[in-house]
Amino acid sequence: MTSHDTDGSTPLENLMTEDRRFPPDPDFAAQANAHPEIYAWASADPEGFWAEQARERLAWTTPFTEVLDWSGAPVARWFADGRLNACHNAVDRHVEAGHGDRTALVFEGEPGDTRTITYADLQRETSRAANALTELGVRTGDRVAIYLPMIPEAVVAMLACARIGAVHSVVFGGFSAEALRSRVVDAEAVAVITADGGYRRGSASALKPAVDEALAPEDPSEAPTTVRHVLVVRRTGQDVAWTEGRDVWWHDALEAASDEHEPVAVEAEHPLFILYTSGTTGKPKGIFHTTGGYLTQAAFTHDVVFDHKPGQDVYWCTADVGWVTGHSYVVYGPLVNGATQVIYEGTPDTPHKGRWWEIVQKHRVSILYTAPTAIRTCMKWGEDIPGQYDLSSLRVLGSVGEPINPEAWTWYRRVIGGDRTPVVDTWWQTETGTIMISPLPGVTTAKPGSAQTPLPGISAEVVDEEANPVPNGSGGYLVLTRPWPSMLRGIWGDHQRFVDTYWSRFRGLYFAGDGAKKDDDGDIWLLGRVDDVMNVSGHRLSTTEIESALVSHPMVAEAAVVGASDPTTGQAVVAFVILRSDYVDRVDEVGEGADVAATLRAHVAKEIGPIAKPRTILVVNELPKTRSGKIMRRLLRDVAEHRPVGDVTTLADSSVMDLISAGLDKPA
Ligand code: WTA
Repeated sequence: MTSHDTDGSTPLENLMTEDRRFPPDPDFAAQANAHPEIYAWASADPEGFWAEQARERLAWTTPFTEVLDWSGAPVARWFADGRLNACHNAVDRHVEAGHGDRTALVFEGEPGDTRTITYADLQRETSRAANALTELGVRTGDRVAIYLPMIPEAVVAMLACARIGAVHSVVFGGFSAEALRSRVVDAEAVAVITADGGYRRGSASALKPAVDEALAPEDPSEAPTTVRHVLVVRRTGQDVAWTEGRDVWWHDALEAASDEHEPVAVEAEHPLFILYTSGTTGKPKGIFHTTGGYLTQAAFTHDVVFDHKPGQDVYWCTADVGWVTGHSYVVYGPLVNGATQVIYEGTPDTPHKGRWWEIVQKHRVSILYTAPTAIRTCMKWGEDIPGQYDLSSLRVLGSVGEPINPEAWTWYRRVIGGDRTPVVDTWWQTETGTIMISPLPGVTTAKPGSAQTPLPGISAEVVDEEANPVPNGSGGYLVLTRPWPSMLRGIWGDHQRFVDTYWSRFRGLYFAGDGAKKDDDGDIWLLGRVDDVMNVSGHRLSTTEIESALVSHPMVAEAAVVGASDPTTGQAVVAFVILRSDYVDRVDEVGEGADVAATLRAHVAKEIGPIAKPRTILVVNELPKTRSGKIMRRLLRDVAEHRPVGDVTTLADSSVMDLISAGLDKPA
């Protein structure tokens, strides 16, 4: 496999010369939750291993007798005859065990306000919210969209849905009204939980107007027809428009509700949540997860990968609940394990660039889980900033979302981890639900830049085009070879797309969409996506989705988007656009250069959200296409990354690339 195929991430050559090794510290190993023997146990009997995890780590109202049912492959059923409730497992169980006074959430608002919420508080709050939702007519199995800032109510709202067996669909607060609407429509949500706004970069940023626009668009035929209520959390106090009969204040509804509620026991395969993620086509996929298997693997991985000790550790995962990391490692994994955790509303540099480290120092955070893009940003700001804070409480550092380059890995360990902490580079996806490939702290000798080993009970392989495992020292495609408990059960409402997307490239194997390499020891190094999915600051974006947003602007005739490597964000969105001829003729009125780019960037922000805005927009006259009309993004990536343009022999018109390269010095 050439580095072209890997979507422009870290070149293989660099990774393969990385030979630093970090063996576990003996004192850490002596107290570690993970032991080397679990690998052998799990590989000898993966189903028995997972059944034991499910029994030990979760409370079942009806114990299961079945473990894995793969007869309906590729839809797995795990522990299917058991019943349980996710919120009971995350909250009530700890109160019943006498830990009601333990802090569950320490909230840091961006403006400096703080709240401490115990497990007993969470039980009362989720009970009130569950009663309030029931009062508003939400039933077991209904879908509820959640569109909130990173505030405790986001966690409460998710758990309250789980409490009544309603399926939550969290939509990241940075997504646009358009994006929210398409998700609400696709899931046929009956309610939306939102806030007046949240604090972002020092000011109050409104959320409610986007919900109003999503539910009552200009073209009424596009309005979702299923939403009956909008619950509104008051966070910023800013003015909101109000639709009588539909809108309800969260605090009014919760005050009126009882703080006692019996969690609804559901089947293990009852859907817990839908989370939309970008795929290779324009339409986001509603990945859905069910209850028993998902919770089992969330709890297991949070325990062994982070070496989490309930009642002792202070855990902080910096992800927003709008992403899968927030689902599995802010809400379900840590809470099922009785963690005490920090949640923070804002950006790392508000009001100053030491904000995160100030939070670590203040709350004595011991486990930190974040994304490489954040680490690289801190590297850019300089190590004297974290150097001003006491970070000695940290004992495990995690990384997720994109490949972490060895330099960022070693910086993270040295500057943030005081040259002492294990660093775990965790590979997984929205689809896998929870961590799949990662070193285990106290067990694994770490290699900077490698996720290394499938977790106990997980079977991964790197294969060639014909699905044959590649030998050590070679690259290929990452596949998962056996079903795992937290695997997606499908794409909401589109079974065929599920089969086509993940199971058709290599028969019987789950194809992750990532390129990977096995080193001489057989350890896995992730190399980035091999499809049309980009990874910008650890967020998944689809080239096609941004292309269709661009061409929906009247100025644009055609667009091609690529992810070009970027030193901070991993990849950056670069768009090549062909303007409509009537606009080109009128370019003087329309405004050339910056105006075109600014207009289109704003348009993409409106259609999808600010995270999808192209970093660079280049106006071109032609796009490189194969004879069958497929855009050759590989060549555009060469241009965007200032490389000599690669093999053009399959282009219909090979002179196109000369034209594009020649026009490069005048970006729009
Ligand atoms: C990428 C985020 C390399 C990968 C949990 C995957 C990674 C996509 C890593 C899933 C890692 C995630 N090393 N690449 N440790 N973790 N990825 O669904 O390309 O937002 O397919 O899930 O992120 O992104 P998603």
